[in-house]
Amino acid sequence: MGTINYFCFKLLIVFTATIPSSPTIPQDLFKAIADLKKELNGVILAHYYQEADIQDIADYIGDSLGLSQQAASTEADVILFAGVHFMAETAKILNPNKLVLLPDINAGCSLADSCPADKFSEFKAQYPDHIVISYINCSAEIKALSDIICTSSNAVKIVQQIPENQSIIFAPDKNLGRYVIEQTGRKMILWDGSCIVHETFSEKKIVQLKVQHPQAEILAHPECETHILRHADYIGSTTALLKYALKSPSSEFIIATESGIIHQMEKDAPEKLFIPAPPEGNCACNECPHMRLNTLEKVYLALKNRTPQIIIPESTRIKALKPIEKMLAMS
Ligand code: 13P
Ligand code: SF4
Repeated sequence: MGTINYFCFKLLIVFTATIPSSPTIPQDLFKAIADLKKELNGVILAHYYQEADIQDIADYIGDSLGLSQQAASTEADVILFAGVHFMAETAKILNPNKLVLLPDINAGCSLADSCPADKFSEFKAQYPDHIVISYINCSAEIKALSDIICTSSNAVKIVQQIPENQSIIFAPDKNLGRYVIEQTGRKMILWDGSCIVHETFSEKKIVQLKVQHPQAEILAHPECETHILRHADYIGSTTALLKYALKSPSSEFIIATESGIIHQMEKDAPEKLFIPAPPEGNCACNECPHMRLNTLEKVYLALKNRTPQIIIPESTRIKALKPIEKMLAMS
């Protein structure tokens, strides 16, 4: 070996020896995750906005209501929640003695973040005779300040059950709030929050798409703004949109919600065409940047290392549990 080659060889040994050892990621992540799940008596609950691979390894895929119902009834010891923080938090509120894992602890939610607990307390204090109905997309602290929780699939039904003479604050999503007001005819005080993903859609581009696909039905989530919802043939939660698309005789759909749902739509109805509603900019803004922080690799690592786990102070959990239980009873 020449002097230079020998020097390079020695350098390589020193360099390799100083690299911190990273955890080995198995080649077959699907099998490794299935094995770990069995070992832990774990269950994987996933939202439709997760990447396709995560949806494919999940034991249950659903909307926020379905996922809460699954979390409330599961017999597993470990819940891996493939979704965002408020969803895993809800599972933990319902299951204080179970280990609840979130693959990426930074998977938050712009809508939940738009409603900080201190500001919301001040807001609530201005309306002492109002009850608070909060969309599940909020922190445990906001849930603890609420009377009833709702999701996009039961918000209308829950508001309809409130006596006419009872005034209501609805938080944190103003778009869902406006939609519920329109559907129920109830006046409600709205918190000024919204979701970055559902406010990204371009009305102009959707109308242009509809010209190119005149037979397509437009399906929209109620977190979208009014000027998008007014073009929709059907409005509903992610599960409701999926069920509608499968049942409808139409063969083309424009989907105005996070594009992850299209994976299930294409799996369940491969003969139909699902077109994601385009965002304003030239970006993938119809993918939730928080939801997409989770990856298959992080699912594996979370199960293997039993971390990151959700921890909630018991006093907050007890207060947050009541409005969630009310929602489950009223759904
Ligand atoms: P659903 O799960 O109720 O359809 O709501 C979608 C959502 O934004 C979840 O973050
Ligand atoms: Fe939050 Fe919107 Fe992402 Fe849902 S899609 S998790 S509401 S930011």
